[in-house]
This record gives sequence, C-alpha cells and structure tokens, in this order.
Amino acid sequence: MADERFGRWRARLDALVRTEGDVTDLRSLLFASLRASGYGAVGAGFGILALYSIPILILTGFLAVLGVGRPLLAPMMQWVRTVAGLERRRLRRLGHEIETPYTGPIADPPRTFGDIKADPSARRDLKWIAVHGTWGLIVGAVLLQMPFISVRDVTYPLWWYFVPDSEQQILNGLISAQTPNTAILGCATGIAVFALWLLFGPKLLDLQGRPGVSLLGPDPEADLSERVARLTATRAAALDAHAVELRRIERALHDGAQNRLVAVAVLIGAARREVDRAPERADEILERAQTTVEGALAELRAVVRSILPPVLEDRGLAGALSALASDCVVPCTLEVDVAGRCPASVEATAYFVVAESLTNVAKHSRASGASVEVRRAGNTLTVKVVDDGRGGADAASGSGLAGIARRVEALDGTATFQSPVGGPTEIRVELPCGS
Ligand SMILES: Nc1ncnc2c1ncn2[C@@H]1O[C@H](COP(=O)(O)OP(=O)(O)O)[C@@H](O)[C@H]1O
Ligand SMILES: [Mg+2]
Repeated sequence: MADERFGRWRARLDALVRTEGDVTDLRSLLFASLRASGYGAVGAGFGILALYSIPILILTGFLAVLGVGRPLLAPMMQWVRTVAGLERRRLRRLGHEIETPYTGPIADPPRTFGDIKADPSARRDLKWIAVHGTWGLIVGAVLLQMPFISVRDVTYPLWWYFVPDSEQQILNGLISAQTPNTAILGCATGIAVFALWLLFGPKLLDLQGRPGVSLLGPDPEADLSERVARLTATRAAALDAHAVELRRIERALHDGAQNRLVAVAVLIGAARREVDRAPERADEILERAQTTVEGALAELRAVVRSILPPVLEDRGLAGALSALASDCVVPCTLEVDVAGRCPASVEATAYFVVAESLTNVAKHSRASGASVEVRRAGNTLTVKVVDDGRGGADAASGSGLAGIARRVEALDGTATFQSPVGGPTEIRVELPCGS
C-alpha cells in the first residue's frame, strides 16, 4: 500500500521534472537540476554504504587470508551484491539499461577467493564499491549541497546581523564574513553557486553514475568469449548428435531391413529353381518371401518413424505426448501449455525426451505414478518429467539419459537430472524455441 503510494508520488514527480529535448528555459533547467540533486543524494546514500563496506571488506579479506574469516566471504559478497543491486535500480530509473550480470542466482554469491577470481562480475562489483564509496559519495554530496548553499548565501545579508560571530561564513565556510561587505559578497557567491548548479547539476549526476554504468552490467568481453566457447561446444555436440543419429539409422537399416531383403532375394532365387521341379514347394517359398518382405516394410516404417515421429506432424506436440503418456504402463498425468507450434527440431527433441524418460520410468523406476509437464514461456520450452519411484538415475550408466543430454545440448538448451537414491526422479529440460 505504502509502496504503491510512493510509486505514484514518484511517477508524478518524475513527470514534473522530466526533461525533454533541449533544456533551454530556466524552469526546465531548474527541474533538471532538482532531479539531479535528488538522485545524486540517493546515490550519495549508496556511496555511504559503499564507503563503510570498504574497510569491512578489507578486514574480511585479511581474516580470510589468515584462515579464520572464510565463512564471512559469502555474506560479505552477498552484501556487495545488495548494494550494487540498489545502484542498478537507481541507474535504471535514470534511463540506463543495465542487465544483472550474475550467472547463477543472486542469492548464491562467490564463497572463496578462487570463486571471486573466477567470477568477473564479483570483481567488477568490488571495483565499483571502491569507486562509488569515494567518487560517487563526493559527487553526490556536492550535488546535494549546491542548492542549499546557494539559497543560504543569497539570503545571507538578510540574516547576517543575527548570526553569532563564530558562524559568520559563506560558501560553506570557505570565506568568513566578518564585515557587512563580505556579507553582501555572500549574495554574489550564492548566485554563482546557483548558476553552476543549474548548468552542471545533470552533468554531475551523469559523472556520478558513470562508473556504475560501465562496471555493474555484464562484462562485454567475458560475455562474448563465453558465448563463443559455448557455441563452439554446442556446435561440436550438434555434429556429434548428428553423426550418432546417422549411425543409428544406418545400423537399423543394415541389421533390419537390409538383412530381410537379402533373405527375400535368396528365397526368390530358390523359388525360381523350384518352379519347374516342384511348383507347390515354390509357392511355399514365395509365401515365406512375402512375409519377409512385409517384415522388412514394417521395419523400414519404424526407422522412418524414429527419424521424425509422424504423429508429431499429424497431431502436434500435445497430441503426440498424450499418445506417449497413455501408452505408459505407469499411470501418467500430462499437462501441456504450449501456444502455437515450435520449430520441428524442438518438438522432436521434446518428444524424444518424454519418450525416453517414460521408457525409463517403466523400465527402472518402480514408480506408482508419473507426471509430464510441458510449458512454453516466452522463447523457452520447458519439459519436466517426474516419477515417484526409487531414484538413482545415472546418465553415466546407460545411453538414454546421455542421449537426452546430447540432443538438448545440440539445440543450445539445458538438461538437468535430479534423482537421489530413494527418489523422486525429475528430468527437466529447457529448450530455446525461437520467436
Ligand atoms: N526414472 C528412473 N528411476 C530410477 N532409475 C532410473 C530412472 N531412469 C534411469 N534410471 C537408471 O539410470 C540408468 C541410466 O538410464 P539410461 O541412460 O536411460 O540408460 P538405459 O535406460 O539404457 O539403461 C538406468 O540403467 C537406470 O538404472
Ligand atoms: Mg533408458
């Protein structure tokens, strides 16, 4: 409630002081500078937090080097993330687009020196603390003081007479004003400070936020090299997955249909030799040849189906999955929330993941129930297969789970298997599915 009121109040204030286009007239100059002082003061507040963090961080680092302060590293880094998060919010309100750079969850900060060294965002956060605790705080304090100094000094001659001797000073103590003339000089310095504030307030605010803008987002270089490394790995995985798939098809054709067709050729040869000698025997052989051809056809059909299940084409992902779920020997619930269609490769992979997971449930889990959930949120398709069986699924001990991981990786997705001994087992796969 209070939040809402605060938000509305802030929106109104923002609308009031928003500067559009060229700042030329005095009123918008004044509003821009007021806004700069307001945000600058908030920035100075975070600067104070940063300043106090510096000695505590140094002390923690020192204790950690000695070996006694290691458990303190994680909470300190969490604190750094919190302060940096506040500044990120301030900068976003000022119109900067800053993404949160952490790879893991925000509540999982680095825990050791090694982690900090390996995590560019942690190092950049620390650098920002050092800069903002000094530079940011000073600039913020100047921004906050300028309007007060100018009002005080401009009006100084009016109340100079009543001020005790020890406090007769202008420009925040820089000039002492013992005589009426210097008191009148206050008026001039006040006007000068006011003019400086009007002209340079927004600029100072910009200078205060600049370190945050460059340090608090993701490291552009690390981001790019990480992405290149990942793409290289997934490209290799895609090629691997492709090769494995070709080998599987080749083996299925070679061991199945091809063998049967060879047998058919042999049978037909035998039948031809028998035609004249014993026609009934030839007929019998031809009948065997026919059943063998039918077997070969069925196998060919199965191979074709395994390349891209036609049920996907005909009934879409939801239909295909409901066929899988209803065929499962363990009772299985299905929830599909996917608007429209995803790319064929994504649908085929999702289908394969569910098919393999449900086969595993039937084969290994001894579960009494399973559930399949498939959802699309934005550009991510999430597939979750859970069973309440005995757990202990291990990708290293078979080919099915490894196959899931490989196929998912090839599409730039992620696959996680959680299966503690005793259960339950959860297979979770996220696939990017374009726009
Ligand atoms: N849902 C499950 N519940 C319990 N154990 C499982 C489950 N899924 C897989 N496993 C275990 O993990 C191993 C690896 O599974 P997988 O890679 O699919 O190989 P495969 O099914 O060919 O044995 C299985 O041999 C099985 O012991
Ligand atoms: Mg399996």
